[in-house]
Amino acid sequence: MSADDFVVTPWHVEGDIDYNKLIKKFGTQKITPDLSNKITTIAGQDHFMLRRGIFFSHRDMDRILEQYTKGNGFFLYTGRGPSGHTHIGHLVPWVFAKWLQEKFGVKMYFQLTDDEKFYSKDTTLEETKKFAYENALDFIALGFDPKNTKIIINTRDIGTLYPIAARVAKKINFSNTKATFGFTNETNIGMIFYTSLQSAPCFIEDMPVLIPLGVDQDPHFRLTRDIASKIGKTKPALIHNIMIPGLGGPGGKMSASDENGTIYTTDTPGVVRKKINKYAFSGGQPDIEQHRKLGGNPDIDVSFQYLRIFFEPDDAKLKSIYEDYKSGKMLTGELKSILVEKINKFLSIHQEKREKARDTLNQFLLDEK
Ligand code: TRP
Repeated sequence: MSADDFVVTPWHVEGDIDYNKLIKKFGTQKITPDLSNKITTIAGQDHFMLRRGIFFSHRDMDRILEQYTKGNGFFLYTGRGPSGHTHIGHLVPWVFAKWLQEKFGVKMYFQLTDDEKFYSKDTTLEETKKFAYENALDFIALGFDPKNTKIIINTRDIGTLYPIAARVAKKINFSNTKATFGFTNETNIGMIFYTSLQSAPCFIEDMPVLIPLGVDQDPHFRLTRDIASKIGKTKPALIHNIMIPGLGGPGGKMSASDENGTIYTTDTPGVVRKKINKYAFSGGQPDIEQHRKLGGNPDIDVSFQYLRIFFEPDDAKLKSIYEDYKSGKMLTGELKSILVEKINKFLSIHQEKREKARDTLNQFLLDEK
């Protein structure tokens, strides 16, 4: 690991991330209270993910807002690498994108990079393509409308992407990608070209793009931003969310490769209960007596963090859970059962919508080229 004790790249996240340090390291901007207020004012509503700093950093969000108030539009873009089923951490930028789309009345693109996961993981292309369609269902289930939302599947829609990717690829040197991602001579050349495919949707419309995304994806768009003017385009603007911790610990991110450390959107209520009870890292004391006396630590407790990040948007309720847990009045088992109930309630509705999405999926796909 680096001297900072954490690593954040698109393919690897590890350690206890210091987000202020990360902002400096990546060269992004912190979302200041002033910027947050501007978003709220223009949107006409605030969002708990902004209020709580779940979205904490940006590039050129201020420019997007300023242009928007002058009547100059933008569109939204985000994506997902389909290496397995969707887990709840993935939903964070999608839910926020949905809110932005509603409040700003803009178009949205969602990219599923089945090629990327084939290049970067030990898996078949059939497998990643299958998960692209599965993941698309989770995206649609959040309530997007096919009239202003399009889903791009890389291997299916390469005809649309390729002419844009080619223009991007011509401007990115091997030394740039190498420095950004740490590629070596052994890295397959699919990976080396890949950034140009993730960049392509940025330029699919003739207007500026705003990308809500996990901060681990920032390096791709740093390269895109560097070359944008060379192909006569505006730099993509970004708004970054923190990494969602895996069940096993407050550091790092929820990773699909660790079955037990991850809650999938397809998990049954029993599996959710078992995973949270057995694996969710606890900020509690070793026994009840000490817990009552010393209290728990909600700041490192993963169950509390899931409530804060996604499952309890009500600030007053969250605060009372925080205080009760910290004082020792609430036990770890009680905190976990609050979370289990929230997740299962969410998933029972989500899973129903997810099944219905099979009927509308085609309406979201691009016209084939
Ligand atoms: N590389 C991303 C992942 O592994 C998927 C992705 C494609 C993406 N385009 C994006 C993520 C745009 C954020 C924004 O999940």
